[in-house]
Amino acid sequence: MPDMLGDMRRTHTCCELGADDVGKEVVLMGWVQRRRDHGGVIFVDLRDRNGITQVVFNPEVNNKVHEKAHAIRNEYVLGVRGRVDRRLEGMTNPNLITGEIEVMVVELKILNAANTPPFSIEDKIDVSETIRLKYRHLDLRRTQLQKNIILRHKAALSVRNYLNRHGFIDIETPVLTSSTPEGARDYLVPSRVNPGQFYALPQSPQIFKQLLMISGFDLYYQIVRCYRDEDLRADRQPEFTQIDLEMSFVGEDDVMGVSEGMMEDLFKDVLGQKLKLPFSRMSYAEAVGRFGLDKPDIRFGLELKDVSDIVEGSGFRLFSDAVKKGGIVKALNAKGCIDFSRKEIDDFTNFVAVYRAKGLAWIKVREDAWQSPIAKFFTDKEKGALSRRIEIEPGDLIFFVADQPKVANESLGHLRNQLGKKLGLIDENEFRFVWVTHFPLLEYDETENRYQALHHPFTAPLEEDYGSLKDDPLSVRSRAYDLVLNGSEIGGGSIRIHQKDIQERVFEALGMDRATYEQKFGFMLSALESGAPPHGGIALGFDRLVMILCGQSSIRDVIAFPKTQKAACLLTNAPSEASKAQLDELSLRVKKS
Ligand code: AMO
Ligand code: AMP
Repeated sequence: MPDMLGDMRRTHTCCELGADDVGKEVVLMGWVQRRRDHGGVIFVDLRDRNGITQVVFNPEVNNKVHEKAHAIRNEYVLGVRGRVDRRLEGMTNPNLITGEIEVMVVELKILNAANTPPFSIEDKIDVSETIRLKYRHLDLRRTQLQKNIILRHKAALSVRNYLNRHGFIDIETPVLTSSTPEGARDYLVPSRVNPGQFYALPQSPQIFKQLLMISGFDLYYQIVRCYRDEDLRADRQPEFTQIDLEMSFVGEDDVMGVSEGMMEDLFKDVLGQKLKLPFSRMSYAEAVGRFGLDKPDIRFGLELKDVSDIVEGSGFRLFSDAVKKGGIVKALNAKGCIDFSRKEIDDFTNFVAVYRAKGLAWIKVREDAWQSPIAKFFTDKEKGALSRRIEIEPGDLIFFVADQPKVANESLGHLRNQLGKKLGLIDENEFRFVWVTHFPLLEYDETENRYQALHHPFTAPLEEDYGSLKDDPLSVRSRAYDLVLNGSEIGGGSIRIHQKDIQERVFEALGMDRATYEQKFGFMLSALESGAPPHGGIALGFDRLVMILCGQSSIRDVIAFPKTQKAACLLTNAPSEASKAQLDELSLRVKKS
């Protein structure tokens, strides 16, 4: 039977006692991190969320308590009363805040026993993530995860304080709703009272926040859960959190200004870091041209170069044909990497293949000649032009991809990031923000054979490009902007369409006929006709931001109860099968494949 608390009341946490407290009687409660039996005297590291204090059971101080302490095991929950003593000379622990003192116990309550945990509660543990997620309540006891979750709380608080100070109001929006198109699949929830009908969980509160602008709440925010059924990666979760804002009577600069101020406060409050404002800006075309990706990591160089014009007429058919077919040839100069082995180059070739590149041509630049399977195809003039464009020097290794622009840029862009890491070009303590602007409004989805919105269908086209909506939709630029931090897309937003006719033209450019968009978004079109103010906003990926603030490489390490790559919660075994009775009630039948 565990002891009851009785009249024992905690007086201190396990991190706050120091030399000034020597002589005080204190009561601590917490978990047993470690128990050491030193020939009669038992030492226990008692842990709570704040830290660790060493508590001592000495038979000479209290024999009965010492006897009882023999039962203690790791992760037992204890309450101890005792006197704060200075540790003996040479016994202090400079790694602990409380390292100068210990508590000599006179009363022990074993508040609960614990089974031996499946892994020890330490930061450097060698255990699979599957086991960690199955026993997440234990995993969360580890100092690193405690720090991450507490930092997350501080970050949310900083954001709320900033937005409240600037007049934003927090308004909740529904979770059981209809589809909000953000480019992912919806999570559907069956409606019992409307058999055969479904709610969709929101991919974002996009439509509601625009409706709130139309209702006159001109500054809205919400730290809000969003749900997207998409392929998961290290920085994606099926349910994740956004810092979602919307503002009326604003242009791009206003939304960006508020976001920058919020980041400035956040980095100051949470990390004590001063950011340099304003953040730099770059058009989508420039980002993709120079870095291959619309989320450029600008902490290092190795910029890509387009050499299509130089190789177009060359004897290397692979390159010249690619350009003739509307493709491009891009080059990446891996400075000083001439010593990369054949195996390393093969690994890079496999790496770019993930991004659909059909190959990776290369040149090693020796003092006297180019060593490469493709060097023989180029004339001296072409070599000279390539050398100047790519800024070639002896010792360099040049990579090329010839393909459609999307493939050439993306594959080399990712290779650039990979090389930046491998070559140690990235200062992990640096935070480099950049706004990427003027995204294309639409892109062509090859698999579905139709245009789709690059952001979402409510994003305003650039006014000067309105004319091309019908005839050349891919050339239309939008008033969307993404916020990128260290190569990670941490936010996206836009100025919205607030005129019904423009919204209809965009729906039409997306291939929807009137009946379809009236049925899906008629309420939105009608709201736009009811006095919609010009408005715009942004949503920041809160989990991704916290992940960067915590210096973690997995989004799962900053979410208390995350899901696996297969969208499962290993702790609660969700998702799981529903009973026949539940399915009947919902008028559903499950097709077994
Ligand atoms: P967007 O779709 O760009 O914009 O989402 C905003 C930000 O949310 C983060 N994010 C994610 N984080 C973790 N897991 C995911 N599955 C995930 N998906 C997105 C990213 C992204 O930049 N309604 C618009 C915003 C607006 O226009 O105001 C929207 O949702 O960091
Ligand atoms: P191959 O003639 O197919 O053996 O290719 C010669 C070299 O060109 C190899 O190093 C390939 O990896 C490379 N290569 C093949 N396709 C492409 C491409 N689309 N872009 C760049 N290099 C390529």
